Amino acid sequence: MTRLVTGGAGFVGSHLCDSLLNSGKQVICLDNIGSGQYRNIEHHLDKKEFEFINGDVRDDIGKSLSTESVNPDSIDRIYHLASRASPKDFRSHPIEIATTNSQGTYNIFSFANDVDARVLFASTSEIYGDPEVHPQPEWYAGNVDPRGPRSSYQEGKRLGESLAVSFYKEHGLDVRTARLFNTYGPRMRPNDGRVVPTFMFQAVEGRNLTVYGDGTQTRSLLYIADQIHGLRRLMDATGFAGDVVNIGSTAEITINELAKMIIQLTGTRSGITYEPLPENGPPRRRPDISKAVRRLGWKPTIDLDYGLDQTLLYFENQMR
Ligand SMILES: NC(=O)c1ccc[n+]([C@@H]2O[C@H](COP(=O)([O-])OP(=O)(O)OC[C@H]3O[C@@H](n4cnc5c(N)ncnc54)[C@H](O)[C@@H]3O)[C@@H](O)[C@H]2O)c1
Repeated sequence: MTRLVTGGAGFVGSHLCDSLLNSGKQVICLDNIGSGQYRNIEHHLDKKEFEFINGDVRDDIGKSLSTESVNPDSIDRIYHLASRASPKDFRSHPIEIATTNSQGTYNIFSFANDVDARVLFASTSEIYGDPEVHPQPEWYAGNVDPRGPRSSYQEGKRLGESLAVSFYKEHGLDVRTARLFNTYGPRMRPNDGRVVPTFMFQAVEGRNLTVYGDGTQTRSLLYIADQIHGLRRLMDATGFAGDVVNIGSTAEITINELAKMIIQLTGTRSGITYEPLPENGPPRRRPDISKAVRRLGWKPTIDLDYGLDQTLLYFENQMR
C-alpha cells in the first residue's frame, strides 16, 4: 500500500519521504514547489517506489493523481503537510496560505474519505497564538487575533483542525492532528525568516546576528529526526482517530542563548544586532508533551548541540 505525502518536497515532508522510503514504503509526493525545493527530493526521483506529482492541494486531488496514472485506491495513508510555514511567507503569501489550509485541507480530507485512507494533518503551535497558558497542553484553545499579521496561517490551521474533527464526527474519517512546534534541521530554506537558518547564515557570512526585541523571548527547538519519529508514531498508533497531539521540544532556550550558541559553533567574529520585535510574535511557546509521552511513548532524544552541528554542516555544504 502507498503513502501520500502532501508538501513532500518541503523541509519536514522531504525528511518524512526519506524515512518512509527507508522503511520500504511506496511513496507519492504531491507538492507545488511553492516553498519546497526539488533538491530535497531529487535523490529519490529515479526510484520506482517514489512518485513525484507537481500539483496543488487546492486542485482536484483525483485529477492530479491521474496525471501520473496513480490508482487512488492504492493510497492507505496520507500525511497532509502542504502549507507554507515561514513567517516571511505569512506576509508575502497570506491568501495562498489561507486557501491551502482551507480549500486544500478540505480536498485532502474529502479524498481520504473517498478512498478510505487514514490521515495525519500537520497543524502547528501557531494555533495557540500568544498563549496565556504555559506550557501549552492540547486542551488549551489558544489566543489568536483573527486580523493579526500571522492570522492567515493561524486561522487556516485552526480551520484545518476544525475540519479534521468535523470529518471524523460526520464521516468517521480516521484523521489525527499533530501540532508541530518549532522544528529545525537540514533542508530548511536559508532565507525563510526562521531563526536557526537565519542565524547560521548570518554567522557563516560574518554578519551580525539579528535579534528582534531584547532576546529574552524563548523558543523550544526540536531536531527534524525527532519530529519525523513523532509523526510516524502518531500515524501508526491505534486509538487516535479524531485526536490531537503536541509534538515538540520542552527544552526552552532564549533567543540570546541561541545566538551565542551559534556564534560559538561557527567560530565567527559576528556580534548581535538588536532590532524592534515584529508585531504579534509570541514571547514564549513550549509544548506540554505529556500526552505524546504517555500515549505514544515518544519524547525528544536529540540534544540541541548535536542538532545544530548537523544543520550547520548542511548549510556549509550548500554554500560550497
Ligand atoms: N517546520 C516547522 O517548524 C513547523 C512547525 C509547525 C508546523 N509545521 C507544519 O509542517 C508542515 C511542513 O512545514 P515545513 O516547515 O516543511 O514547510 P516547507 O515550506 O518547507 O514545506 C511545505 C511544503 O508544502 C508545499 N505546499 C505549500 N502549499 C501547497 C499547495 N497549495 N499545494 C501543494 N503543495 C504545497 C510547499 O511547496 C513545500 O514543499 C506545514 O504544514 C507546517 O504548517 C512546521
